[in-house]
Amino acid sequence: MKRIPTLETERLVLRPFGPDDAAEVQRLAGDRSIAATTLAIPHPYVDGMARDWISKHQSYFDQGKGVTFAISRKTDGSLLGAMSLMAMEAAHQAELGYWVGRSYWDQGYCTEAGEAILHYAFTQLGLVRVHCHHFARNPASGRVMRKLGMQHEGTRRRHVKKWDKFEDVELYGILQEDWKKAAKKGSPKVERQSASASLRRDKKSSANKKVEP
Ligand SMILES: CC(C)(COP(=O)(O)OP(=O)(O)OC[C@H]1O[C@@H](n2cnc3c(N)ncnc32)[C@H](O)[C@@H]1OP(=O)(O)O)[C@@H](O)C(=O)NCCC(=O)NCCS
Repeated sequence: MKRIPTLETERLVLRPFGPDDAAEVQRLAGDRSIAATTLAIPHPYVDGMARDWISKHQSYFDQGKGVTFAISRKTDGSLLGAMSLMAMEAAHQAELGYWVGRSYWDQGYCTEAGEAILHYAFTQLGLVRVHCHHFARNPASGRVMRKLGMQHEGTRRRHVKKWDKFEDVELYGILQEDWKKAAKKGSPKVERQSASASLRRDKKSSANKKVEP
């Protein structure tokens, strides 16, 4: 069993969730504003859900289906949110998903975490594509995707039903080759991430080009 790695950025540590995070996950993800623009997060977020969710992360990773990181702040260790690569297909692609606790919005945390995850996806997991989507009524998430260098790939009209309403969904994606080109050109975000992201554990897997988490 290989452990979920820990990644580091300028202000953040992206680490595996542990059972001790459950109460804070419930508090943060339990805010209605988090459920309102995501498909998978239930509302109300009742006792036991966070513990249950966290308990599945390692086996999900072991099965090569994806990886979930806790986004925590370096200065005080606060848990800020979560970011995942989901529905992973080895040597091919994965879907990026994320949420950040409401009181931490608009401070660049999601984008900074996303830079680290893309770096991990393209240099450690060997994925060729990462894709993402957001409800059309959630422009902040679209902004994060564009800041990560993702391209808009289309709109799926009335594609999903959320709380009895059909939602338009905006699709985004980024290819490894484009991410690498941007890094070469010195795109500030990619460059910053290349310089600062580091795997603090699991050094073996960082040298491993095999496409599995
Ligand atoms: C989407 C979300 C993760 C963003 O997290 P965050 O840490 O605030 O993201 P960042 O600070 O890195 O970037 C947010 C960007 O959106 C912009 N933004 C915020 N509200 C906006 C709005 N209403 N319209 C357009 N842009 C908006 C911010 O100004 C910022 O852009 P900037 O850096 O150019 O100023 C957070 O809002 C969230 O968790 N929402 C609820 C869950 C969710 O929607 N998850 C994503 C599902 S697809």
